[in-house]
Amino acid sequence: MASSFLRGLSLAFAFCSYATMVYGQSLESGSGAKYGGLSSPADIGVIAQFNDSMYTTEIVLGGQNFTVVVDTGSTDLWVDARGLNLKTTNNTGFNVNFSYAIGEVEGEIQYADLQIGPYVIPNQVFISATKVSPVDSFPGNVKGLIGMAFDTATIFQTLMGTWGLGSAQQLGRAPITNLFTQNPSAPAYFDLQLSRIDADGAEQEGHFLFGQHAKGLEAVEQAPKLERIQVDHWTVALDAMTINGKQYTGWNKSAVPSLPEGKIATVFDSGFTYPQIPEAAVNAIYSSIPGAVPYHGPIPGTDNVGDVTSWIVPCNASTNLTFTLGGQEFPVHPRDLITMYNGVKLDTVDGIDMVANTTICLNTWQVGEPVGEYDILLGMAFLRNVYASFHYGDYTPPGNSTTGQLPYVQFLSLTDREKAWAEFNDYIAQKLAGFAPPADPASFVKVLNAYISHSQAGASSGSSSASADATGDLAVSGAASDSSSDGSDKHSGDFGRLAAGLSAASVAIGLIGLSVSLFMCIRGVKGRRDAQYKPLRLPKEDATGLDAERGALYRD
Ligand SMILES: *[C@@H]1O[C@H](CO)[C@@H](O)[C@H](O)[C@H]1NC(C)=O
Ligand SMILES: *[C@@H]1O[C@H](CO)[C@@H](O)[C@H](O)[C@H]1NC(C)=O
Ligand SMILES: *[C@@H]1O[C@H](CO)[C@@H](O)[C@H](O)[C@H]1NC(C)=O
Ligand SMILES: *[C@@H]1O[C@H](CO)[C@@H](O)[C@H](O)[C@H]1NC(C)=O
Ligand SMILES: *[C@@H]1O[C@H](CO)[C@@H](O)[C@H](O)[C@H]1NC(C)=O
Ligand SMILES: *[C@@H]1O[C@H](CO)[C@@H](O)[C@H](O)[C@H]1NC(C)=O
Ligand SMILES: *[C@@H]1O[C@H](CO)[C@@H](O)[C@H](O)[C@H]1NC(C)=O
Ligand SMILES: *[C@@H]1O[C@H](CO)[C@@H](O)[C@H](O)[C@H]1NC(C)=O
Ligand SMILES: *[C@@H]1O[C@H](CO)[C@@H](O)[C@H](O)[C@H]1NC(C)=O
Repeated sequence: MASSFLRGLSLAFAFCSYATMVYGQSLESGSGAKYGGLSSPADIGVIAQFNDSMYTTEIVLGGQNFTVVVDTGSTDLWVDARGLNLKTTNNTGFNVNFSYAIGEVEGEIQYADLQIGPYVIPNQVFISATKVSPVDSFPGNVKGLIGMAFDTATIFQTLMGTWGLGSAQQLGRAPITNLFTQNPSAPAYFDLQLSRIDADGAEQEGHFLFGQHAKGLEAVEQAPKLERIQVDHWTVALDAMTINGKQYTGWNKSAVPSLPEGKIATVFDSGFTYPQIPEAAVNAIYSSIPGAVPYHGPIPGTDNVGDVTSWIVPCNASTNLTFTLGGQEFPVHPRDLITMYNGVKLDTVDGIDMVANTTICLNTWQVGEPVGEYDILLGMAFLRNVYASFHYGDYTPPGNSTTGQLPYVQFLSLTDREKAWAEFNDYIAQKLAGFAPPADPASFVKVLNAYISHSQAGASSGSSSASADATGDLAVSGAASDSSSDGSDKHSGDFGRLAAGLSAASVAIGLIGLSVSLFMCIRGVKGRRDAQYKPLRLPKEDATGLDAERGALYRD
């Protein structure tokens, strides 16, 4: 049965050459997704969603439209087509599971015709999700993900495990490698520029193109080639990270032993909101910001949910962070170092959200220790600073020999340091004008500590001990109160509501004391606040033995 299935599909692939790629067209500049027929300009575009925490594009699969995340950190195409009448061209009956930082997807490996921009790929393999958990991990209209890495992931490995390597190479290809296979004479690269959302909500330029560069950005072709050093991800060797003009020297030896001394194995992952770097590096970056304060542990109501060190940063401050790759310098926009929260939902009690009426700014670059295949992971907060060209080297369909050119990445810097600071100041001023008053970081940490010890005390030993703790913490935070505290009386209405929403009155009293002394009030908001959008993590892929044809520069 498996073999006739293979023949059937192989036959279908023989007709693939009717699918076309459009080259050399002059591209309209501008942002946003452009979806069109075969004659449309081929800048497919990406759209920033949920405050720049996700980048999506539009596809048509099996006759249905999907908004999918563009993810250079994984390979498999999957969609959530539950409730839709998806026209598949075949099913394998293979059910698979794979996980991201934010959750898990389960589904069946199937085939359907795919259209992306003007490109048509018949019989594209994909996973039709039967379960996505947690349910809101792909929010709003986002209904799947298109992986833009290498053919080493779940689909490929599942097919290889059952049908063998040769069949997987034919039937398990990602959309991008199918496109290259269909167009063997076309250059095998795609370009990606992640857009930015301005303070007024307008979206700046974003690009997503196959086999061509965006107009005005062709110089990327001359940029240094950063060769892939690991087979399963877009991983390259980083030369240096510089903080305020001073090179950071605290790296451990690379997890990739064959990397030259001092180089750091760096993954570029457009599906990951927050860059992941070792704690010492996070501390070096954020301790360079005057007034920034570290805090250990999850911060409720934010995306900093790990049991690691976060930094609370004055919202009007950032730092000069630069990466050196292939001898080229890439400044990071000061905006890409802090994440603003207008109101911090500390808790929900009896259905009432308890939100600190303040704006805080947290470290966007988070603690993530090396996992063995790479040392650091640069996500959206780095990639917004570059026009990136991801080149598959001398990609040839499996079975054909290659000249040995490895896949590589080329970057053009888009961030001008001086201009970026002016933009930063402007952006922050505009944002803060419409937000709750910003917190002094040290005071916010005191409130947080007090709140957490109150709720823990309340939960573990009842209201009488909570009451005692409340008094103690009150004294601490009262002493630390340095903020102006005018007009605290006018919040009494909010405190009244808060007290009514709490079961343990003693806890409420403690909080009221804190709030007044720090000039914060807690407001109760019925119903659900905006969902928290979590970073996407690349699936763990074991690439052992795969993609040997194209190889890697360094191996463990
Ligand atoms: C679909 O798969 C079956 C076996 O599972 C095979 O017999 C058939 O030829 C395939 N159809 C196409 C269009 O590939
Ligand atoms: C998909 O989107 C296109 C363009 O917006 C629209 O014309 C078409 O009707 C949509 N198809 C479906 C099945 O919703
Ligand atoms: C996926 O994982 C869930 C939970 O671990 C398990 O119940 C389910 O059987 C798995 N499905 C497949 C296809 O492996
Ligand atoms: C950061 O860069 C700006 C612009 O080049 C410069 O004016 C400023 O002095 C730098 N700050 C530090 C601390 O190096
Ligand atoms: C270096 O390695 C040690 C031991 O594994 C670890 O505790 C430390 O956090 C690492 N530091 C950095 C900067 O990676
Ligand atoms: C940020 O704002 C505070 C309080 O208004 C002020 O003291 C500080 O100088 C400002 N910092 C910067 C870098 O503008
Ligand atoms: C975007 O960020 C603003 C400010 O933190 C917040 O009020 C808003 O809810 C966020 N929107 C989404 C969709 O995340
Ligand atoms: C939040 O604080 C601001 C400034 O003090 C105040 O104007 C606003 O009414 C407060 N909002 C709530 C819901 O308490
Ligand atoms: C290898 O390349 C040749 C010439 O371009 C082509 O005719 C052949 O179909 C290719 N083989 C495979 C397996 O794609």
